[in-house]
Amino acid sequence: TGEMSGCPMHGDGGMRALLGRTNKDWWPEMLATEILNPNGPSNPMGDDFDYAEAFNALDYKALKEDLHALMTDSQPWWPADYGHYGPFFIRMAWHAAGTYRTADGRGGANSGQQRFAPLDSWPDNGNLDKARRLLWPVKQKYGQHISWADLFIMAGNVAIESMGGPIFGFGGGRADVFEPERDIYWGSEDKWVNEGVQTRIAPEHGFEQIEGPLAAIQMGLIYVNPEGPGGNPHDDEGAARDLRETFKRMAMNDEEIVALTAGGHTFGKAHGNGDASTLGAAPAGGDLAAQGFGWVSGEEHGGIGEHTVTSGIEGAWTNTPDRWSENYFRLLLDYDYELVQSPAGANQWQPIDQKEEDMAPAAWDSSKKVPTMMTTADMQMKRDPGFRKISEKFRNDHEAFRDAFARAWFKLTHRDMGPKIRYLGPEVPQEDLIWQDPVPEGTMPSDSLISEVKAKIADSSLTVSQLIKTAWASASTYRKSDHRGGANGARIALSPQKDWDVNEPANLQKVLSTLDGLRGDMSLADAIVLGGVVALEKAGATDVPFTGGRGDATQEQTDVESFDWMEPEADAFRNYRPKKMGVKTEEMMLDRASLLGLSLPEMTVLIGGLRVLGANHGERGHGHLTERSGQLTNDFFVHLYDMTNVWKSTDDSDEEYVATDRAEGREKWHATRADLVFGSNAELRAVGEVYAQKGGEEKFKKDFVKAWTKVMDADRFDISYRKYHS
Ligand code: HEM
Repeated sequence: TGEMSGCPMHGDGGMRALLGRTNKDWWPEMLATEILNPNGPSNPMGDDFDYAEAFNALDYKALKEDLHALMTDSQPWWPADYGHYGPFFIRMAWHAAGTYRTADGRGGANSGQQRFAPLDSWPDNGNLDKARRLLWPVKQKYGQHISWADLFIMAGNVAIESMGGPIFGFGGGRADVFEPERDIYWGSEDKWVNEGVQTRIAPEHGFEQIEGPLAAIQMGLIYVNPEGPGGNPHDDEGAARDLRETFKRMAMNDEEIVALTAGGHTFGKAHGNGDASTLGAAPAGGDLAAQGFGWVSGEEHGGIGEHTVTSGIEGAWTNTPDRWSENYFRLLLDYDYELVQSPAGANQWQPIDQKEEDMAPAAWDSSKKVPTMMTTADMQMKRDPGFRKISEKFRNDHEAFRDAFARAWFKLTHRDMGPKIRYLGPEVPQEDLIWQDPVPEGTMPSDSLISEVKAKIADSSLTVSQLIKTAWASASTYRKSDHRGGANGARIALSPQKDWDVNEPANLQKVLSTLDGLRGDMSLADAIVLGGVVALEKAGATDVPFTGGRGDATQEQTDVESFDWMEPEADAFRNYRPKKMGVKTEEMMLDRASLLGLSLPEMTVLIGGLRVLGANHGERGHGHLTERSGQLTNDFFVHLYDMTNVWKSTDDSDEEYVATDRAEGREKWHATRADLVFGSNAELRAVGEVYAQKGGEEKFKKDFVKAWTKVMDADRFDISYRKYHS
């Protein structure tokens, strides 16, 4: 990913703020509920509530039966097309999951974010507020036993099943959050997709790919513009490129693109039979009386049922929109298509000379026939040579299509749940899948094995710095966004991680092969973490906890491409920043800390400790503000706050600094932005002062060991989830 041009994360596209546009930018009048955050969490469930346990006590069968019944229980306030809500719920589930992106693991269905801004108000999520409201009676009935997040995906699954489509399985366990995620970057544009024609891929401006970590072509879209790039229906090449680029960002390949799009659009219809200009504000900016409903039509007929306007495109893809079939590929490949406009004015493609039996029933009058349609995005499944080959294969081999759709849907909707042990319920598939990053079960090392390996590591030539760097490199790949990475599996010893520049491959190789020779029956993953314990004890820490039992993954169990996405482009914890980034170094540090699940004091204490232990990338002395290298001391903060120092930047980019003695002018220390920010930022400084002050040394050591252990054990779902599977 390092060669992306025009990618602001990489600095060659100018600087941008870490979070880009936020809810406050879009809706300045939004109620500032966050002023209550200091008084306690917004989650009303409390610390005692354990969603996994509650889910396990769910009457799963009864819930599924109720969902099946809901599919055909049409409500007058939002009547069901064809008398079946299935397609609507599939779109809801796909849009809940489809915000996921591999680059930082954020987005996705795992916390029920579709209930909150900005997602609840994205143009692409138009009218999904009604889908969620249709589900409310079911949510209400099953209460805490089913989260919204699980319900979204389960409703999508039941919808597919109830229309005869293939399902691979379902894993529950997505706990709800109760406020918008504030740590996620959705882009910097100041317009929604429907207000501007800019597209993030603009080859004429040197943009060949979308800005990292984004995974949609424009603000407010799940993936691509259905009408074509920037709304242009004639840019086939661009449309196919946008599809590949966006789906790639959730590690979906050509076959998965075709299977998902065709499978999804086998069902339902698009809505554009009316005047989009009469639609009111999206939910986040909506009228109080609308009670969370957005896009309220200003037309006399109310804009529901046959008058619904959502995307503006109008019509069904197939002649059988309320059941699974082979008709998508048949209609796509057997007919030629011409460009037409929907009543709402959207560009779409219509079969030429369509036979009556191939037309769709009108959604409100099954005795009436209307032409089917394809979007510009759908047309690429036939016009792009690569996609076409797959479309033809699926047309001729329906079983292959069923299997590919079922598997891709399962991946789409479960991709952000982390290791398989986190999936709960009776429908979890047996089969291990490569994108689940499988790790073989480990064995708990005995106390005597632990002591033996510890003694051997302590007597070896491995230094504190080497052991700390290796344990950190292994464990700190964890991200709470999609629960990938971490020390379990020892993937640090496998491709691609073993070759990441941030990990100093040559040095790493030496440490790993030494540890490998000392570990006996212990897994390499455990030995790496145990090496960190040995180093901390050598550095003067006491009572460093160690929990063994990790397994070692094989190269075959490792999807290299999807791990490529996880390579850190900068790591403030190791003072690593190979080139100027498009986001400030200290913001990249916050981002990394946020993904690691660290609090502000935890981040602070870790940086202070890692510096003096010698964890910097390479031989960099920056931030190594100590004369007792390799000892776990609070020297970093003591020296940073020493008023005899004067700091000055040493390069034009304001990335590196030198401290001289105020009186003597002699050079004392070197540091980076990721060091000095603990002195310049008032909040970070306030925390750092606690560690620098008298009596702070002991607290520093204790807090460091605690934060360190938290990172080392962040991925131990093999332990914490065991109880849910007994
Ligand atoms: C509906 C675009 C991929 C499932 C729609 C609509 C559009 C659209 C414009 C009409 C919305 C409305 O006006 O009501 C796209 C594009 C895709 C894509 C551009 C490619 C990136 C998918 C995928 C799935 C899916 C991957 C699921 C696997 C559906 C379903 C509907 C729908 C079921 C019908 C909803 C209803 O009947 O209310 N899509 N879609 N789509 N989409 Fe997609």
